[in-house]
Amino acid sequence: VIFDESEEASISVAAEIGELIREKAKLSQKAVIGLATGSTPKGVYNELIRLHREEGLSFKNVVTFNLDEYYPMTPDSLQSYVRFMNDHLFDHIDIEKENIHIPDGTLDPVEIQAYCERYEYKIEELGGLDIQILGIGRTGHVGFNEPGSQINSRTRLITLDHITRIDAASDFFGEDFVPRKAITMGVGTIMNADRVILMAWGEGKAEIVKRTVEGEISDTVPATFLQKHPNASIIIDKAAGEEL
Ligand code: GLP
Repeated sequence: VIFDESEEASISVAAEIGELIREKAKLSQKAVIGLATGSTPKGVYNELIRLHREEGLSFKNVVTFNLDEYYPMTPDSLQSYVRFMNDHLFDHIDIEKENIHIPDGTLDPVEIQAYCERYEYKIEELGGLDIQILGIGRTGHVGFNEPGSQINSRTRLITLDHITRIDAASDFFGEDFVPRKAITMGVGTIMNADRVILMAWGEGKAEIVKRTVEGEISDTVPATFLQKHPNASIIIDKAAGEEL
């Protein structure tokens, strides 16, 4: 779906999420939502906050699972995804703290595998993700599933691609300070969501958008696996669609 501007696209994604939350609330059910970080979903979060403040959208029945976190990473660091989510969404809505899940960047290395298995289990226990929103990295990663990630991969510790670390360098005041690893949901975790929305804005994403939509399905561009998802949309602005 191509919108003229990312602002309208973000509003439409937030509207879909808002509708899901309201439908689930009517049925006294939880809405299980997979969230992303980065600049891309900020407009969606702004609109969700507006829906909460101005249109009474409540997040009391919402459970969230974030895609990823750098490793190692303390929650209070400037670059932590915990901090990002609090600043851009959670501090401004009525979500219950115990319903928020973000991979823990402070674990001892020996604890990581069991932690990741529990993360998967918690999602499954709630009946799976109703919706997962995604941005995309220049390497074609979704979450931090870098090239080489398999379609059935699960939440795990990964090594960040060099290009991803270059792209994150400005956030960390230099590439040397960007962590080498991250904990991410797997491609398989994402593929199990009932609905997937991948968003991309701006000409900087045009080439990877073309490879994602028109390219051969392969682990060289993990986002191409979404071509196989029965209910995935890629929502972009004109600039990101320039090469299609
Ligand atoms: C990071 C995140 C991804 C995100 C990507 C793109 O790598 N882990 O989830 O999609 O950045 O970031 P941006 O939205 O800022 O372009």
